[in-house]
Amino acid sequence: MKKVLVVVDTKFGNTEQVGREIAAGIEETGVAECKVIGIKEVKSEDFSSYDGVLFGGPVHAFRATRGIKGAIKDAANKGLDGKLVSSFDTHQSPGHKGNAARQIEGEVGKKAPGAKIFTPGLSARVDGYEGPLNAAEPARAREFGKRFVDELTE
Ligand SMILES: Cc1cc2nc3c(=O)[nH]c(=O)nc-3n(C[C@H](O)[C@H](O)[C@H](O)COP(=O)(O)O)c2cc1C
Repeated sequence: MKKVLVVVDTKFGNTEQVGREIAAGIEETGVAECKVIGIKEVKSEDFSSYDGVLFGGPVHAFRATRGIKGAIKDAANKGLDGKLVSSFDTHQSPGHKGNAARQIEGEVGKKAPGAKIFTPGLSARVDGYEGPLNAAEPARAREFGKRFVDELTE
């Protein structure tokens, strides 16, 4: 059984919802189990047992949040070498979304050069500032989780 950790930064809960859908997709494969934690829990988490880690956060002012970047730094200090790592974000406006998923990926590359990056990450849309998550996104998130496991078990 592979083990995957999903780390989420969220203000209104939408990014956490995407993280939980990704986790459900991962577990539906039957070959991987997945835990979802918030950014504050990174410091007390034991990373050694995980084969894969995903980092997700909302787009704030076109950018990935300081919170998720801090979590990547903390996780990298604990050790991400050799693990498969990917990213996801939520954004409101397709025209002005920035690309937090790609920024998160870049941050992982900088802070944890020994990680293997699964790219591209998932960029999910919310229908208002506070959500809800766009109706198409739960299915996309589950599918993304499955593809992540495919790569992990290749
Ligand atoms: C301070 C702030 C800045 C934001 N800036 C953007 C932005 O530049 N582009 C965008 O598409 N959405 C923006 N949003 C909307 C967020 O992307 C949306 O609140 C988020 O996806 C919801 O995720 P959450 O429920 O996990 O917090 C912003 C939201 C906040 C609170």
